[in-house]
Amino acid sequence: MIYVDNGATTFPKPKSVIDKLVDCSLHYAANPGRSGHKLAMKMDREIYETREKLCKFINATNPLNIIYTFNATDSLNLAIKGVVKKNDHVITTSMEHNSVLRPLNELKKLGIIDLSIVYADKYGVIDVNKIFDEVRENTSLIVTTQMSNVFGTIVDVEKIGAFCKEKNILYLVDAAQSIGVLDIDVQKMNIDLLAFPGHKALFGPMGTGGLYIKDKIKVNPLKQGGTGSFSQDINQPSIYPDSLESGTSNGVGIVALGAGVDFINEVGIKNIREHENELKNYFIENLKDNKDIILYGPLDERQGAVVSLNVKGMDSSKVSFILSEDFDIYTRAGFHCAPLAHKTIGTQRLGAVRFSFGYFNTIEQVDKCIKALEKIIERNKK
Ligand SMILES: Cc1ncc(COP(=O)(O)O)c(C=O)c1O
Repeated sequence: MIYVDNGATTFPKPKSVIDKLVDCSLHYAANPGRSGHKLAMKMDREIYETREKLCKFINATNPLNIIYTFNATDSLNLAIKGVVKKNDHVITTSMEHNSVLRPLNELKKLGIIDLSIVYADKYGVIDVNKIFDEVRENTSLIVTTQMSNVFGTIVDVEKIGAFCKEKNILYLVDAAQSIGVLDIDVQKMNIDLLAFPGHKALFGPMGTGGLYIKDKIKVNPLKQGGTGSFSQDINQPSIYPDSLESGTSNGVGIVALGAGVDFINEVGIKNIREHENELKNYFIENLKDNKDIILYGPLDERQGAVVSLNVKGMDSSKVSFILSEDFDIYTRAGFHCAPLAHKTIGTQRLGAVRFSFGYFNTIEQVDKCIKALEKIIERNKK
């Protein structure tokens, strides 16, 4: 079995993550609470420890500014809807996932915001100056991904962050594909809001995610409810993280997410990135001269370990289906919840087959992917 769908969620997870899931589930998976019993307090402590690990991992200053969510979509909705006001102007890019585009489009349809979408070039590369050119007097927010989930293209978030700081515009980064692979330093990069999943390259379980909020930035809650704090008050608390974390969290998942962060720190994020890049480069190198394959993206260092392609004359979902059925190779076909990214690169009708490599993939597996594609081409010609 070859799993190259790590862009959707990483699989497998490190053993230490599974061990932590099991240990927590067996021994202390009580509902956390500051004023609770011993087990609740143990859970509370462990959940806080993951907050500290995440805070350090992105070089934030205060663990209480890390808000737990259930996935990146949750974090993006919270950040976007929690900061925009009526008549604001927002800028985003064509490389975004629908979890950015749909909330923004909804706000636009409701007449709350004006929206500008900056298109990448035909390789999926964003010229950040084009973003800066769109700024108006009422621009309050810029939202970009750090790495495209379709073509792996990397966005210069540091440059955008510096610009936003100078112009006093909020900068929200979608780190769904980058956290755990690319370096993220929210202070150095001037990132105001960072939305991330726990279940992708941070190796946490599904149902985990987070939002970092810079000090003094007010994000309004999308929901109100019990927080296990200030319980005699019927008003929603105003402090982070309580104000944005109503209801029972995925506590067991969060505790295991902490083990995911530990795993990355032990292996070293640079080693993870280098390994994934090696796999990506090997894949590209061996397919780039194949006349029956169209590879998308810049295919150089501006691209992370996500490679989309099409086999000429074949539907992307058919290729992905054959890879799964006949070769036990798991890719993702279609449009990857990113319609404008496909439009940018000209695959809005065809879609593409996405290979997203992860730390646990090997060169031998990539070799098998290449051979399987060659076999599929050969069969298709008969
Ligand atoms: C760039 C990007 N943003 C957002 C998301 C949404 O993430 P989640 O599934 O955690 O909600 C994804 C998921 O693949 C993604 O690739």
